[in-house]
Amino acid sequence: MFKSTAFLALLSLVPTLVSAQQPLYAQCGGIGWSGGTTCVSGATCQKLNDYYSQCLPGSATTPTTTPTTTPTTTPTTSVPTGTTTPAAGNPYTGYTIYLTPYYADEVKAAAALISDATQKAKALKVANIPTFTWFDVIAKTSTLGTYLADASAKGKASGQKYLVQIVVYDLPDRDCAALASNGEFSIANDGLNKYYGYIDQLVAQIKKYPDVRVVAVIEPDSLANLVTNLNVAKCSGAQTAYKTGTIYALKQLNSVGVYMYLDAGHAGWLGWPANLTPAAQLFAQLYRDAGSPPFVRGLATNVANYNALSASSPDPVTQGNSNYDEIHYINALAPALSSGGFPAHFIVDQGRSGVQNIRSAWGDWCNVKGAGFGMRPTLNTGSSLIDAIVWIKPGGECDGTSNTSSPRYDAHCGLSDAAPNAPEAGTWFQSYFETLVKNANPAL
Ligand code: BGC
Repeated sequence: MFKSTAFLALLSLVPTLVSAQQPLYAQCGGIGWSGGTTCVSGATCQKLNDYYSQCLPGSATTPTTTPTTTPTTTPTTSVPTGTTTPAAGNPYTGYTIYLTPYYADEVKAAAALISDATQKAKALKVANIPTFTWFDVIAKTSTLGTYLADASAKGKASGQKYLVQIVVYDLPDRDCAALASNGEFSIANDGLNKYYGYIDQLVAQIKKYPDVRVVAVIEPDSLANLVTNLNVAKCSGAQTAYKTGTIYALKQLNSVGVYMYLDAGHAGWLGWPANLTPAAQLFAQLYRDAGSPPFVRGLATNVANYNALSASSPDPVTQGNSNYDEIHYINALAPALSSGGFPAHFIVDQGRSGVQNIRSAWGDWCNVKGAGFGMRPTLNTGSSLIDAIVWIKPGGECDGTSNTSSPRYDAHCGLSDAAPNAPEAGTWFQSYFETLVKNANPAL
């Protein structure tokens, strides 16, 4: 005891010679990082992107390089053989949603930092609410196999059928109209081929666990950017790669029976009346180009956003759009999808939609101040178009850094309605999590 205290005192005197070990989930590296680069026992410092390495549980076994097999550069045009037939109806019906240990661990670590006993108890409840797991870098793909094996074992032990929820999120030149979530692959540097490798890695693992059902949200923001942001050079430059990459993902994930929902922005984006028809046409065209994969079930809306499913009255910032919440948006989009032959089923993210009327402008998306956890995941959606209310953005993970000197600083994250002192996108934002807990509606 005394020895370690003395050692810590020594450490504080010579910070440039010895770095303290970083706690679980803390930053441990990245461009501009000057803090500790080693992790406490039981955690390993893993590079998530050029700007952020994080102490993650376990030893570093995840691959950090792209696969050595050369992926096909041109996706095949037919639906892959071996495609099984999807179950009729809502893919969630009859399944238990798997709780991803990654998020549960983040939440438990966060709760441990809360001193108020009531808030701590509320925070801990979040660890039992299912969220999607984002595969936002290829290095994380091997963890999917771990989760599927765990879900499979839990299913066998309990006699229940398990469903694992994932977000496929690694297109080259990702987040083309913003900066906060720019990804690891660039089109200029063979990014499309690398993306095929990323999809192949997910598929290889899913194939091994046919007893576990997988539901995937496909590439948040990408197709919506192609509907409204082709005036942005990075988006017009990414158009072909986004489409080709998405078609490849749909075909390959279909071949292993993954139920898919393509991301469709939200009411304040594609829900503007002028955007509905072009959006529906793009989804339908892409679906046809992929060979109408039967496991494409529909669209995911409000991913990582703050809109209500059904607002008691329109938020003033929605003025001018009669589709002022997700249910109005979905009801308006569905007929256009159906007439184009696209399956009009939906899942809706309500993870951070508990508090309304908190934005200065509808387009504000970054760590909006005053948000609270929203409706709990449920199949009682009140709409035959909506399969499930889900939590897709894991609440507490950041939307983007407020550090103006970061290469991924986006001005939205510096707005007056964005929470200050925000870390890099995807990493833990403790004070924001605590606000989500405090403002949860329904209360936790
Ligand atoms: C980030 C991802 C992260 C996801 C979920 C996105 O905004 O860019 O890195 O995995 O949010 O938190």
